[in-house]
Amino acid sequence: MNDKQLVAEYAAQRIESGMLVGLGTGSTANFFIEALARRQREENLQIEVVASSVVSMLKAQQLDLTLRGVEQIGGLDVYVDGADEVAPDLTLLKGRGSDLVREKILAKAGKAFWVLIDKSKQVDRIGQNFPIPMEVMPFAWQLVQRSLAAIGGVGTLRKSGDGLFVTSHGSLVLDTAFDPDLDGKTLNNLLDAIPGIVEHGIFADLTSAVFCGHQGSVEETAV
Ligand code: 5RP
Repeated sequence: MNDKQLVAEYAAQRIESGMLVGLGTGSTANFFIEALARRQREENLQIEVVASSVVSMLKAQQLDLTLRGVEQIGGLDVYVDGADEVAPDLTLLKGRGSDLVREKILAKAGKAFWVLIDKSKQVDRIGQNFPIPMEVMPFAWQLVQRSLAAIGGVGTLRKSGDGLFVTSHGSLVLDTAFDPDLDGKTLNNLLDAIPGIVEHGIFADLTSAVFCGHQGSVEETAV
């Protein structure tokens, strides 16, 4: 079992009957969905789930988990997802899989937000290994790019094959690199204030706990 699987199994063991559980997107989230489905089958765990993407929804459906739509819920017991980067203050970078809008909405809707990572995701600062993804309104991307440049950001439209990448919400993605001296929370506030950004990949003040798999054991950091 690799560290992603290990941490997913660990988190799935924490889920209790009666919970409404938000499902993240990505390879670690997939392991979590599989572990939950197994507990439902083998232990008769009674849960309902809400998916953060079409991919997770299809996986949950295939595994016979009971799905509810985002539009049907008033909140979640817990949202469980992976991350691309985790800073020491538990600010996250997410969205390299391009489903960050629903992911952030569900992370905020959860009474708790558990983040599942392996050691490779721990960084000193957000943006260390990857540019920060921004979902932008297609008609406004050039204006957003200028607003980002004004705070030192260099944004490039994400490509897909020969064309531009379009998200499931019809937005474009500007992957944007910033000055390393800008810390994640400051950047989060600056980006929140730019019109035309539908949502960006910095998740600040949302994390409840990080479960990190490393060499066969799980380290837990709670807020
Ligand atoms: C998708 C995400 C994923 O959680 C993130 O990319 C981590 O993926 P993985 O678990 O495959 O390493 O933010 O938008």
